[in-house]
Amino acid sequence: MRLLFLGDVVGRAGRDAVTDRLPGLIAEYGFDCVVVNGENASHGRGLTEQHFQGLRDAGADVVTLGDHAFDQRDTLTYIGREPTLLRPINMAPEAPGRGAALIETRGGYRVLVINALGRVFMGPIDDPFRAVEAAVAACPLVEQADAIIVDFHTEATSEIQGMGFFLDGKVSLVVGTHTHIPTADYRVLRAGTGLMADAGMCGDFDSIIGVEPDEPLNRFLTGISQGRFTPSEGEATLCGVALETDPKTGLVTKLSPVRIGGVLAQALPQF
Ligand SMILES: [Fe+2]
Ligand SMILES: [Fe+2]
Repeated sequence: MRLLFLGDVVGRAGRDAVTDRLPGLIAEYGFDCVVVNGENASHGRGLTEQHFQGLRDAGADVVTLGDHAFDQRDTLTYIGREPTLLRPINMAPEAPGRGAALIETRGGYRVLVINALGRVFMGPIDDPFRAVEAAVAACPLVEQADAIIVDFHTEATSEIQGMGFFLDGKVSLVVGTHTHIPTADYRVLRAGTGLMADAGMCGDFDSIIGVEPDEPLNRFLTGISQGRFTPSEGEATLCGVALETDPKTGLVTKLSPVRIGGVLAQALPQF
């Protein structure tokens, strides 16, 4: 079974890259399931319903979010009727939407996707480890899911690696999102779970994490806000991780980083 995860889609450049390239990638590599983090797809802040549908139409089976989940106010309402749009599972119980989804692929595989928000260098939030543990216990690998993907959205790579070891052997993949910078630590852990501390973004890397450099640089230099962040509009690099799992165990047999297009070096070697 082949799965593809793509990191934070940033603005129009990111959306265009997904729309232009994802259908071809699904056809070429035969991905059974595609998960895309969409928390920055709408002008860098949140995800409108129209842009959510655009990602789904391009081939995303599940779209995940993060700390920007509700930056677009309409997400508060439409998320309730979209079972394939996930906000972090460890948000307050009152938050609309859900943090996990079990989908069935075209080939009949059951894939559980979980989205969680970290706590290191992030705002206060409920324990992500226990929240994800409970979701996995309610739908265990092999028994009720052929693959499980955890999108752990946080700042610190150590926290994501912690989640990887915490879930090793119990899920197919733990992948980080949020920093927008792809890490080179993709690997398979001791008990067979794939891990990558950050998938990287689907956005224009001729930028500061997807934003035109002027205003973030100004804030670093002066500490004073002089305007809004503007998503960079050059050609995006599609970033993420591709994996193959054994449907009998749900564990990883093959794993590769994905970096396609734009200014970052290409990566999807012999997958
Ligand atoms: Fe992000
Ligand atoms: Fe984020």
